Amino acid sequence: MASWQRTHFCGELRETHIGQSVTLNGWVNTFRMYPDQVFIDLRDRYGITQIVVESDRPEFFKIAAEARSEWVLSIQGRVRERMIGSEKKHNPKLATGAIEVLAENVTVLNRCPTPPFELFSVPQEGQTFGEPELANEDLRLQYRYLDLRRPTLHRTLAMRHRLNKVIRDNLDAQGFFEIETPLLGKSTPEGARDYLVPSRVSLGQWYALPQSPQLYKQILMVAGYDKYFQIARCLRDEDLRADRQPEFTQLDLEMSFVEMDDVFGVIENLTAEVFRRCVGVTLPTPFPRLTYSDVMLRYGSDKPDLRYGLEIVDVGDIAAQTEFQAFKGALETGGAVRAINVNAAADKFSRKQLDELAEIVKRAGGKGCAWVKVEAEKFAGGIEKFLAPPIQVQLRQRLGAKAGDLLLFVADKADIVCAGLGTLRQHLAGVLKLYDPNALDYKIAWVIDFPSFIWDDEEKRWAANHHPFTAPLDGDLPRLESDPGSVKAKAYDLVINGYECGGGSIRIHNPDVQSRLFKVLGMTDEQAKARFGFLLDALKFGAPPHGGIALGLDRFAMMLARTTNIRDVIAFPKNQKARDLMTGAPAPVDAKQLKELGL
Ligand code: AMO
Repeated sequence: MASWQRTHFCGELRETHIGQSVTLNGWVNTFRMYPDQVFIDLRDRYGITQIVVESDRPEFFKIAAEARSEWVLSIQGRVRERMIGSEKKHNPKLATGAIEVLAENVTVLNRCPTPPFELFSVPQEGQTFGEPELANEDLRLQYRYLDLRRPTLHRTLAMRHRLNKVIRDNLDAQGFFEIETPLLGKSTPEGARDYLVPSRVSLGQWYALPQSPQLYKQILMVAGYDKYFQIARCLRDEDLRADRQPEFTQLDLEMSFVEMDDVFGVIENLTAEVFRRCVGVTLPTPFPRLTYSDVMLRYGSDKPDLRYGLEIVDVGDIAAQTEFQAFKGALETGGAVRAINVNAAADKFSRKQLDELAEIVKRAGGKGCAWVKVEAEKFAGGIEKFLAPPIQVQLRQRLGAKAGDLLLFVADKADIVCAGLGTLRQHLAGVLKLYDPNALDYKIAWVIDFPSFIWDDEEKRWAANHHPFTAPLDGDLPRLESDPGSVKAKAYDLVINGYECGGGSIRIHNPDVQSRLFKVLGMTDEQAKARFGFLLDALKFGAPPHGGIALGLDRFAMMLARTTNIRDVIAFPKNQKARDLMTGAPAPVDAKQLKELGL
């Protein structure tokens, strides 16, 4: 057998190579048979080259005629120009389209049964590889090694490589050290359920896999490392969504002697370089800063998609002047009435579709949504009869409404109004095509001034909105015990196109403040010591003021790849039920293993 070591890649040969002897290895992408010739498009990571095997080499002609999609071949041959007779027959769609390789030797390195789903189809205009309709995702995840052959996934994983490289280079240039922290450790306080690992050596005791490197990175600051980062795997046992995986990757980062502006400066520099080098987009810096209360009011979400308007407007004071029971009832119980003006949409929704909008609000926890259509002189339809002419004038003014607009109202407790109108806003932007999901269109912002605490109605106590090491705003410290609900945190999220792509905070470095905060959370000193004693001890030994952030790199990759499915940017993701369909994990283990662990 001839040596199969390749001399070139399948995307490499050009007119300048004509006449050379080459060896190419790759997969059969497509094949066409003729009585005297077999044409094979041979594919590798780098591209496609047309191979011709002619019948005057019967031994190899026979092998080539048997080859099928996804067989692995080694081809030795000579590069020649693509001609029909004396006419050039270049294929301008392919980088290698000027040439083909006339095979002088064909070796089958491996065969492949017919794949369970179609991997490649005839290339469309501008494509090197044709990409057929996607098969069912579970089937693709089961045969992920085949699915991973798809050019889209090749491009995405190449892009993730670039993302990591840009991060490492950028943070190195900004003076950061990359330091690894343990996977086997103690439970971290990120609020999800832990994945636990039993100890064989200390029977009955457990490690927790890290939900994030939070505690270790703070300790690295106590240890004087000043600027740390890590591309860290994090594990959280929580309900999965389209943008959540049980194991995911963070760019975790921490800095000493800093305030919020310093962290923002580092991340803006890094993010701008990531977008420039990964997708060629220039993001204006500094990124806008929006407060939590402002975004909740205007967009109904703490991770607003700023690619489109459809802003929410409070109309509580106007609604209070009506006799409409849904409005009055909500306002009398301390709730809110807010509205969205959907420009020029009065004729775009049938009655049935308007009912569907109400259903969307109901699924978000609300009672429904009221509507009116705006005409030149008056409102029409929906709740028009409850809105006296002077009220209509005020609403028209407040919402900037003109003839042809559709006004949507939700009345409820304020958080339900936010959830209802926030969900509606997203839905409307999608159906009205107010943004192009495939465009390189990025709207990025910081959300700041989050509340420090949220009230846990089930447990009847305050809970940390971020983690319990997040510093409150200095000016709010006096109200820590007297009015926890009004205390805001030095916490921030980085939001891109409606996704929370990062979150962090300035930490508490003062043991007294930390102890006061634990008390607000209903934790005794003993409980705090049992959970985070090592961190609290470390903080006593000369902790510098410090703060940091973690960027969700899978979500960054989703933004760069313009997908809404996190599984599209991870080589081996889990499905919606946290199963790895390829390996079959989770799976039972041997009784012997369990016995050794005392289980
Ligand atoms: P946080 O919990 O906000 O902060 O996480 C930071 C970012 O990680 C991403 N992320 C996820 N991505 C995919 N799947 C998940 N299950 C998942 N969970 C979180 C999000 C999120 O913004 N220790 C703090 C950071 C800090 O304070 O420095 C932390 O982990 O993009």
